[in-house]
Amino acid sequence: MSEPVTLRPMRADEFPAYHDYFIVDYGEEIAANYGYTLEKSVTIAREELADDLPQTVNTPHHTLLCIEKEGATVGYLWYNVLDAGKTIFILDFVIFELLRRRGYGKAAMLALETVFSQRGGEQIKLRVACHNKRALQLYEAIGFNITGYNMIKHIKGKR
Ligand SMILES: CC(C)(COP(=O)(O)OP(=O)(O)OC[C@H]1O[C@@H](n2cnc3c(N)ncnc32)[C@H](O)[C@@H]1OP(=O)(O)O)[C@@H](O)C(=O)NCCC(=O)NCCS
Repeated sequence: MSEPVTLRPMRADEFPAYHDYFIVDYGEEIAANYGYTLEKSVTIAREELADDLPQTVNTPHHTLLCIEKEGATVGYLWYNVLDAGKTIFILDFVIFELLRRRGYGKAAMLALETVFSQRGGEQIKLRVACHNKRALQLYEAIGFNITGYNMIKHIKGKR
């Protein structure tokens, strides 16, 4: 059974730590997927985050949450709201590395679903890398379906 966790809005003073985690994590993903150097990838990640969250935790249509277990933050969840509140799209979801495999991730997604459904939400969407088996297994276990594939072809000499 999933361990219960609570979701609460991220405070402004917590955003710098989130920012620092995100640009490194997303930067590593960009480097792995597009073959850029880590330095360039982190710069791209920093710019994208600034574009997406110009008002950090107060950016309209975006919600940043801390996932908590017994008063301690165990991870983060970031989503934006689409379709006049009927859809949310998860932009980032993480449980801190040392705290994984305890059911917190599954519990966080189920808590999000419960709260969102009570507010009239109808669907939750997300994108997951095909090599991310842990996340894929979690999402499928709680009822997500695969709707398509992202594809890319690197053209020789262009990166
Ligand atoms: C994906 C992630 C959020 C899961 O969080 P978690 O707290 O470890 O997940 P849970 O403990 O709730 O596990 C739920 C289910 O996920 C799957 N799972 C989780 N970790 C797994 C692992 N290391 N190997 C295989 N399956 C795994 C299992 O189906 C598991 O259910 P089970 O423990 O009953 O077998 C966490 O691994 C993470 O933060 N990963 C890095 C960031 C990331 O990939 N985010 C998702 C982006 S789309």
